[in-house]
Amino acid sequence: MIGAPLNRVDGPLKVSGRATYSYEEQSLGPTLYGFVVESAIAHGRITMIDTSLAERAPGVRRVITHRDAPPQRQPDKTRASYGRALPVLTGTEIRTFAQPVALVVARTFEQARAAAGMVRVGYEITPGQYDFDAPGASEIEQPSVNAGYPSDSSVGDLEGALATAQLVIDRVYTTPYAFGLPMETHACVAAWDGDVVTAYCSTQMVAEAQSRIASTFGLAPEKVHVVSRYIGGGFGSKLGVSVETILAVMAARALGEPVKVTLTRQQMFHHTGHRPASRQRVRLGASRDGRLVAFGHDATQKQSRGSDYVEQTATAGRSLYAAPNRRSTHRAIPLDLPEAGDVRAPGEAPGLFAIESAMDELAYTLDMDPIALRIANEPTIHPELNVPYSHRRMVECMREGAQRFGWDRRSKVPGSTRDGRWLVGHGMAAAIRPHYQSETSVRVRIDADGTTRVQCDMTDIGTGTYTVLAQTASEALGVPLERVRVEIGDSDLPRTGGSGGSWGASNSCNALLRACKALLEKVGAPAGGVLAQVASQFPGGVEAIGSVASQHDEPSYSKYSIASYGAHFVEIGVDADTGEIRLRRMLGVFDVGRVLNEKTARSQLIGGMIWGVSMALHEEGVVDLRVGAFVNRDFAQYLVPVHADVPCVDAIVLDGFDDAANELGAKGVGEVGNCGASAAVANAVYNATGVRVCELPITIEKLLPHLPARR
Ligand code: MOS
Repeated sequence: MIGAPLNRVDGPLKVSGRATYSYEEQSLGPTLYGFVVESAIAHGRITMIDTSLAERAPGVRRVITHRDAPPQRQPDKTRASYGRALPVLTGTEIRTFAQPVALVVARTFEQARAAAGMVRVGYEITPGQYDFDAPGASEIEQPSVNAGYPSDSSVGDLEGALATAQLVIDRVYTTPYAFGLPMETHACVAAWDGDVVTAYCSTQMVAEAQSRIASTFGLAPEKVHVVSRYIGGGFGSKLGVSVETILAVMAARALGEPVKVTLTRQQMFHHTGHRPASRQRVRLGASRDGRLVAFGHDATQKQSRGSDYVEQTATAGRSLYAAPNRRSTHRAIPLDLPEAGDVRAPGEAPGLFAIESAMDELAYTLDMDPIALRIANEPTIHPELNVPYSHRRMVECMREGAQRFGWDRRSKVPGSTRDGRWLVGHGMAAAIRPHYQSETSVRVRIDADGTTRVQCDMTDIGTGTYTVLAQTASEALGVPLERVRVEIGDSDLPRTGGSGGSWGASNSCNALLRACKALLEKVGAPAGGVLAQVASQFPGGVEAIGSVASQHDEPSYSKYSIASYGAHFVEIGVDADTGEIRLRRMLGVFDVGRVLNEKTARSQLIGGMIWGVSMALHEEGVVDLRVGAFVNRDFAQYLVPVHADVPCVDAIVLDGFDDAANELGAKGVGEVGNCGASAAVANAVYNATGVRVCELPITIEKLLPHLPARR
């Protein structure tokens, strides 16, 4: 049962429209609608705000501004970021473009939106800094890095080894602002009952949402009830609830009625985080036989002023290749732009673009097969922490992929393969993503009638949580799948780490496995099956809780380096005359320990790989440097791949089991597909054309002047 490619158990509800997403919550009856009015400047202050026209508009019930917003707490930076307070409408100071300046509450969404356009705001603009590429911009040395990694690491003598290396690759790579834009926009319906508020919101981590709402308004957590049953994607943008939730809770209290607030697609770009732009220098020193003697990775990123978010961009390389002399650093440039945050595979996605592009260039410089180069530098122990790997099948991923993809049949000479008007090229790259574990509890309960319930505050952001939990309970208890009900996404249920960092499925299924074992111990070892035993011996039903600890309290997480691995293979076509780039096929082979559901795991991996194609060829958030705003804030101008851009993508998973990770043997799947994928595309473009583009995305403009026919 565990691992079987079952269809989603929630699939029928979703395709028949009966899965209720937050904004669709009907249980409260008619609600009011809030629309966020955003600042038109990025830096300065409000000098005047006139809501009179909006207040007289049809259907409008209230316009809330800083003048009448309730007092809120400031964020406590000692706590996990997504659970920190998020105060809004706190005063006249404007720190970023689109900062909320008012919430218009009306009887319908259309009325609220129309009236939002009637709120008149006067500003005084003061100069802000918006340009990541401005010469001489001041840098923060050794910022605190996301996920708790040390900012800098150093082993041996990098500079000395580079000075004497037989071959050196020294390149700067850049990655642009990018966004995690789920199909379902951020939304919240809030309703107060006495001093308890229920927030139906769209979040990856219910407990953090509860904590954020409670912290913002100074409430005890038990006064905040969060419900998030169905979620249309998150990709990091919903690790924390955003202004829509805080404003809905605020307005519902002010008006004494339930209030709905959603962000529009355009509003999502400024309020729900983004991957910060990066500039990365990678330096590789090697001997002529292809052994790395030096590995240096220096990452500089945009940071939002006052924020402590810095992507862990230079951490992926710390455990990827052996090299006796190595250094990695993070630096940050504070700008007056909206808050950045985790976007799928934070750190590894941009970091591996740089590293795996540099490794490809080194392979060509050495006239060595890129896979052979990587195998020659495969470490036997973690080269910086000096701990063994738990299970690391990187080489197997590369070999298996090469064989299935037909890697040996590619031309090694860039720009030498033609298919009609297309220049055809092949590229590969390695994937790595650490595996994490967070504190998680799950309850399992069997009623006398045989109904089996799995209960926790875990979320299903489209990943298949409902299904893998049902499969795990079914197998662990020996109960038919159709008797299992999965009840998740509610803060009244046992607390989990939620969906983030690719840990959701393994965390919650492991805790569930333990809960099932504890329940079976209570029931005894029934010959006729657990359901018959419960029916005859436990008229009131029986339940048990299982938990996993945070990785910081699990010895195996400091004894071993635990990660998911993979290898990407890409065939690309570049139109020799127009520079148009088309993906022709892509294959990924992955080592993620044990797979919980072959179908949903493959879907996650393919999704991640397509994200890599998107990063390589399409996505780029552009800042208007005059006003400090992201300008291309819709899907017409912020490009992502459509079906026609993704002809043939496949993901293979090596059958495995990582006993150091957990009892189930399962590791993270959600993000490793996106790790290194963009580099494999870029490397294929190089193989097709002989043009190495180090600034993502790879666009026609960057290729065209350098194509073989024009050289
Ligand atoms: Mo993920 S970017 O931790 O949702």
